[in-house]
Amino acid sequence: MQKELEEYRWWQKGIIYQVYPRSFKDASGDGTGDLQGIMQKLDYLAWLGVDAVWVSPIYPSPMDDFGYDITDYTGIEPLFGSMQDFDELLHLIHQKGMKLILDLVPNHTSYLHPWFKESRSSRDNPRRDWYIWRDPAPDGGPPNNWQSVFGGSGWEWDEETGQYYYHAFLKEQPDLNWRNPDVKKAMFDVMRFWLEKGVDGFRVDVIWHLMKDHLFRDNPPNPDYIEGEPDIKRYLNAYSEDQPGVHDIIAGMRKVMDPYGERLLIGEIYLPIGRLVTYYGKEGAGVHLPFNFQLIQVAWDAESIYALVNEYEGSLLPGNWPNWVLGNHDKDRVLSRIGEQQARLAAVLLLTLRGTPTMYYGDEIGMHDVHIPPERIQDPKELTMPGYSRDPQRTPMQWSNAAYAGFSETEPWLPLADDYQARNVETEKEAAGSMLSLYKRLIEVRKQEPALQVGDFIPLGLQGQLMVFKRIHNGAGVLVAINFGKEKAVYQSETKLQGEILISVSGKPEGRLVADSISIEGEDAVVVRLD
Ligand code: GLC
Repeated sequence: MQKELEEYRWWQKGIIYQVYPRSFKDASGDGTGDLQGIMQKLDYLAWLGVDAVWVSPIYPSPMDDFGYDITDYTGIEPLFGSMQDFDELLHLIHQKGMKLILDLVPNHTSYLHPWFKESRSSRDNPRRDWYIWRDPAPDGGPPNNWQSVFGGSGWEWDEETGQYYYHAFLKEQPDLNWRNPDVKKAMFDVMRFWLEKGVDGFRVDVIWHLMKDHLFRDNPPNPDYIEGEPDIKRYLNAYSEDQPGVHDIIAGMRKVMDPYGERLLIGEIYLPIGRLVTYYGKEGAGVHLPFNFQLIQVAWDAESIYALVNEYEGSLLPGNWPNWVLGNHDKDRVLSRIGEQQARLAAVLLLTLRGTPTMYYGDEIGMHDVHIPPERIQDPKELTMPGYSRDPQRTPMQWSNAAYAGFSETEPWLPLADDYQARNVETEKEAAGSMLSLYKRLIEVRKQEPALQVGDFIPLGLQGQLMVFKRIHNGAGVLVAINFGKEKAVYQSETKLQGEILISVSGKPEGRLVADSISIEGEDAVVVRLD
């Protein structure tokens, strides 16, 4: 007997939806999204059926990295609104039966944060050791070979005090020193501040970066490095990230959170599956969900996807709850990665696999990466690493075919997609074959079927490009068959298949299925409730 649905936590049954606040809805009319804007669109999110809203950083920031560079962890950036707006947002989200997850960025601050200003003011400032300061190498160069994710050395020379400081990202984002107990205490207090307000959890930015080697050893060269790839790939980051001590920090975060009841801790982690799953930690001491980005990275063919799902499922220990992510503000949009029809199949996967799904705003209406003309580039990554801009996947949400897509009343901070008049919430709500209708239906069906929310995952095989699996919960079963290939494919079952077709991506009439085999057209999928 499996646990009853009610016994699972909200975040195991629920669906998470990421809002990039600059691009969701502009209520103030300045071209950038804001908290009042999010409030205006909560009915949409409730209609769509998502359970939790994760909002990327909304704290005061000079916006060198669009909010991932914070100057005050317990304030609200005026561009987005006020603390009163925040309280209202939280209240409304709860009133509508949803949860709010904040972004926590504990690895680094803005260089304009008062802590860093003090830290760099002199070598004997009490906050000197809040950041990572090192003497130059004997030749006067950086202390070691650690590279910045955004290109070049991770070390920045400070003329005034004659030392280097470390920044895993921009030089405007100095890394905090998590070996210093005062840093830990300060950040845990930040968490308590928001938990006291009632937020339902945190998505912790680059959590696998928090701890660095205490000897600051050079990273070994990457034998597979290809000239022209980002600098961060020149070395195997054996000493600059994913260090053993990180798990103690996370255990500390859990200690802060657990007294508050069912709050959720998510970790942003880009590591291979074997390393990723270590972040579940020992019982009750890791993150609840180490974000699983494998569907973003996998080679998009049935064989690789099938192998990936099985490898991931097979790597989880009892008590580890899976999760899947299709896109976020750092990665090309799913539609641009794999094309429209495959993006539909990806939606089926995301919402029928076992584990908590996380959606990225706009993917549900089939938004694609938008070409950004050079004069409108915003992402600093484009400046330090030309060609790697993340602006294309951060463009304004398309609400309607009105001016500026109903996002704003003025020219938005990033250009709109030129097909927004066809692809937008209002239009797609009415269109049976739209991406939005598919997402809406998938979410509906997931909510109706406990097997899809919490059921076991049973792989039934791969026949050509056709992937078939079952989800089972206390005797109730749902069968999912996805044909990633362009040709029709047939799944031959050993037992009679009998049930009701709940979803067919191609929109073929749904109805009863009674057969020994299922035949699926190219790039189509079905979801069947078994009798
Ligand atoms: C994370 C964020 C990304 C940001 C980086 C530095 O990867 O998702 O947007 O640039 O951390 O904070």
